[in-house]
Amino acid sequence: MCSIPCGNRGAGLMTILVTGGAGFIGSNFVIDWLAGSEEPVINLDLLTYAGNLINFAALKNDDRHTFVNGDIGDSSLTFQLLQQHNPRAVINFAAESHVDRSIHGPEDFMQTNIIGTFRLLESVRGYWGDLPDAEKANFRFLHVSTDEVYGSLDADAPAFVETNRYEPNSPYSASKAASDHIVRAYHHTYRLPVLTTNCSNNYGPFQFPEKLIPLIIHNALAHKPLPIYGDGLQIRDWLYVGDHCSAIRAVLANGTVGEVYNIGGLNEMTNIEIVNRLCDILDKLRPISSDASICSYCELITHIKDRPGHDRRYAIDATKIESAIGWRPAETFETGIRKTVEWYLDNQEWVEQIVTGGYRRWIERQYA
Ligand code: NAD
Ligand code: DAU
Repeated sequence: MCSIPCGNRGAGLMTILVTGGAGFIGSNFVIDWLAGSEEPVINLDLLTYAGNLINFAALKNDDRHTFVNGDIGDSSLTFQLLQQHNPRAVINFAAESHVDRSIHGPEDFMQTNIIGTFRLLESVRGYWGDLPDAEKANFRFLHVSTDEVYGSLDADAPAFVETNRYEPNSPYSASKAASDHIVRAYHHTYRLPVLTTNCSNNYGPFQFPEKLIPLIIHNALAHKPLPIYGDGLQIRDWLYVGDHCSAIRAVLANGTVGEVYNIGGLNEMTNIEIVNRLCDILDKLRPISSDASICSYCELITHIKDRPGHDRRYAIDATKIESAIGWRPAETFETGIRKTVEWYLDNQEWVEQIVTGGYRRWIERQYA
């Protein structure tokens, strides 16, 4: 275990434990949390290819953030962290998250998403069981999950509600579905105070450039092909990551124990629309020089072989979280995507540090 000690964390303050907090959504969550609260964060992350400590440059010397390099599947480590830091909540972001990688190699997905979540729950159950009554009642385990557990929608089908049947289609979504069931069972059987959120596709700062939006920005700037799987008419419901973080904070504060909340961006778009929109923004913000062989980034769009088992459409009905908790996304796609493209243009140094040899090997393997 590598631990950066946090020093004096302020008497009387509660603490939260975040897992997977060095990944895309987790690091946005930690940064946003500490911007709005004095409550310290213990951040447990295995630092797989998807986890990056450079995301926390702005938190350097901030003793409210304690980073611990470790595995959610390491029961003795998680139990020790819980006892040492006495958190009032655990927010579980840790996962293998990329569908295409789950198709090439599902093992890590089963290990972290299923076994890891199970072992984390066991540690939390042991810790929570020994808490004094008041702390026990206030404790929460919030499990961050995905809309992919509900499977694929036909074009005219209603959006996913929390009671939709689970029909996961990829090894990734099947592993997340399994984890959701285990979390649910720990509430039903042991009364562990859990909350589950199922969210749609996120985009924003710090997203690893294996996922559609940052991959397209990265390739476009290098004048490389912009790969579209199949016909590009698959639909996703895009949510700005800052809105996902505010939804999680709202559910943590006001969600009813044992309940599930769908989180979406009210923003269904086809992949090809997304890529065209990115090209338009880049054409304006980073025009191609007149001596290049192309005039617009959209000339780089290239349709390639489809993803096996590719889900056609996801869409979230976010009525429950709005009516029960009062949460709605603050960003439109226009505002969120503009911020995102600007962030990547302003943070090319971050991207360069991310696209290491391992990243290049993945790209060669996936897009050869
Ligand atoms: P990510 O891949 O960017 O980050 C995952 C993080 O988990 C990484 O920092 C990684 O190092 C860490 N991790 C992996 N295995 C671990 C282990 N065994 N122990 C501790 N840490 C480990 O993923 P993300 O996009 O930030 O997604 C975070 C969570 O949100 C995941 O649970 C994912 O299923 C869910 N989710 C993601 C999206 C999305 O669009 N990205 C949408 C809905 C739900
Ligand atoms: O719906 C929530 C899920 O969204 C999360 O649970 C996952 O962790 C997250 O990775 C994301 O899954 P997707 O498979 O939808 O995201 P991805 O960015 O990989 O792909 C978005 C769409 O774009 C999908 O239809 C596949 C397509 N695509 C993706 C890549 C990487 C392409 O056409 N070309 C590509 O090169």
